[in-house]
Amino acid sequence: MKLNSVVFKLGATILFLQLIILIPLGYIILQFILNYSMNQTEQQLVQLSEKYATQVEQIDAPDNLQLLEHLAEMTDTSAVILDPTGEKILQTNWHEDISEEVLANPEIQQLKDGETIVQEYSMSSKTYLKVAQPIIHNGASIGSVVLFSSFGLISDSIHNIIVLVILASLGAVALAIGFTFFISKKLGGPLVAMEKVAKQIAEKKNFSLRVDYQANDEIGSLAQAINHLSETLERYQTNRNEFFSNITHELKTPLTYVKGYANAVRHEMYQSKEERDEFLEIIENESDHISSLLDDLTDLSKVEEGKIDLNKEDINVNKLAEEMLKRSQFRASEKGLNLKLDAPKQPVYLYADKSRLDQVLTNIVENAVRYTEKGHINLRVKEKAKHVQIIVQDTGIGIKQEDIPYLFERFYRVDKSRSRANGGTGLGLAIVKHLVGMHDGTIDVDSELNKGTTITLSFPKEKHTS
Ligand SMILES: Nc1ncnc2c1ncn2[C@@H]1O[C@H](COP(=O)(O)OP(=O)(O)OP(=O)(O)O)[C@@H](O)[C@H]1O
Ligand SMILES: [Mg+2]
Repeated sequence: MKLNSVVFKLGATILFLQLIILIPLGYIILQFILNYSMNQTEQQLVQLSEKYATQVEQIDAPDNLQLLEHLAEMTDTSAVILDPTGEKILQTNWHEDISEEVLANPEIQQLKDGETIVQEYSMSSKTYLKVAQPIIHNGASIGSVVLFSSFGLISDSIHNIIVLVILASLGAVALAIGFTFFISKKLGGPLVAMEKVAKQIAEKKNFSLRVDYQANDEIGSLAQAINHLSETLERYQTNRNEFFSNITHELKTPLTYVKGYANAVRHEMYQSKEERDEFLEIIENESDHISSLLDDLTDLSKVEEGKIDLNKEDINVNKLAEEMLKRSQFRASEKGLNLKLDAPKQPVYLYADKSRLDQVLTNIVENAVRYTEKGHINLRVKEKAKHVQIIVQDTGIGIKQEDIPYLFERFYRVDKSRSRANGGTGLGLAIVKHLVGMHDGTIDVDSELNKGTTITLSFPKEKHTS
């Protein structure tokens, strides 16, 4: 595990938090117990020495020593009996640290006056609690009993507490280490796996890789997001490859024609001047085809990447449709098709980009002309409460139901040879779909094979400002 890993940092933080709680807490408990025990010891010593003093009638009585030994044992103290001048009469459990001069003169006087002395007493860096009690018989002070407690019991319990705090700290360290390992398995494993997958995606472009981790938490969401990203990239890559192979294919066919016929003209492989002109016309048409393919590709890449800015204004749809039909009239008449506009008398307005809307209508009407052999093509403009509809209806070859869902895909052509013969590349409707979407509009196709096709465009009117 690296020192800068998230898991290590987490473990160290937990350990730090545990210790900063545990150590001051141990210290506070220690102080509390220390004070409490000292008070208790003091009280106990005062009470027991008082009791002892009342039982002694004569300070040199023979059974005093036994009593004193008993008292010293009970209280874990060094005990001494002094005569009224402060001279030692009896002593038991004596500790060498304690000075031979047990009481100072003022203290002897205090005891004579019947006062109890409680005092902390330091000797050789050790602290004792000294309790001196006057022995009063028949109203007169006949001596005193003095106890020295070295806090033996207290230091035992302090020692126990310190051991406990150390043990708890070690437990905290063990817990933090255990937790760190647990988390590193639980967190670190999937994170490292995700890092590997992300690196492979970025460096080796291996978009088929997925993170194999499922959980209903943040790490799970991250894994899902990475998988989603690689799926999107994979789809993008497939799409791009298809796109390029389509372009190559689309360019190769007309270029083969251009090259073949140019060669034929150069080597004078024609029978007549008319045939030569025919060859040259083919070269011209195929060049036009390449040029329009490149224009469409440029347009498509712009709309797909959202690089087109719409220049919206209020447009008179009737006028736009009329002008557009005029341009298509020539090709329609060539095929003997009747091109008709059916629009309301009063102008219908739409807030849209004029040249883009014109591009949409031109594409649809051109398709209608291209895929209709006889009959007519009708363009209707209808104003509804919230929408403007533009309907292009033809009596052409129609489209099979199963082909309709794919019409808006790039390079999709129902009948490839026929479409190519007509100069189509299958990009028109893909561009149209994007442009209509950019205007918040919809496009619907209704078609019946060999009967005709109806394309309905619908645009919302909300933004109409005049
Ligand atoms: N009015 C229609 N009648 C019958 N088929 C149609 C009609 N409009 C479109 N199609 C079919 O849908 C396909 C896709 O149309 P789209 O306009 O995208 O491409 P295209 O006309 O072949 O080429 P271009 O990119 O030059 O427009 C056409 O190839 C054609 O098969
Ligand atoms: Mg078209």
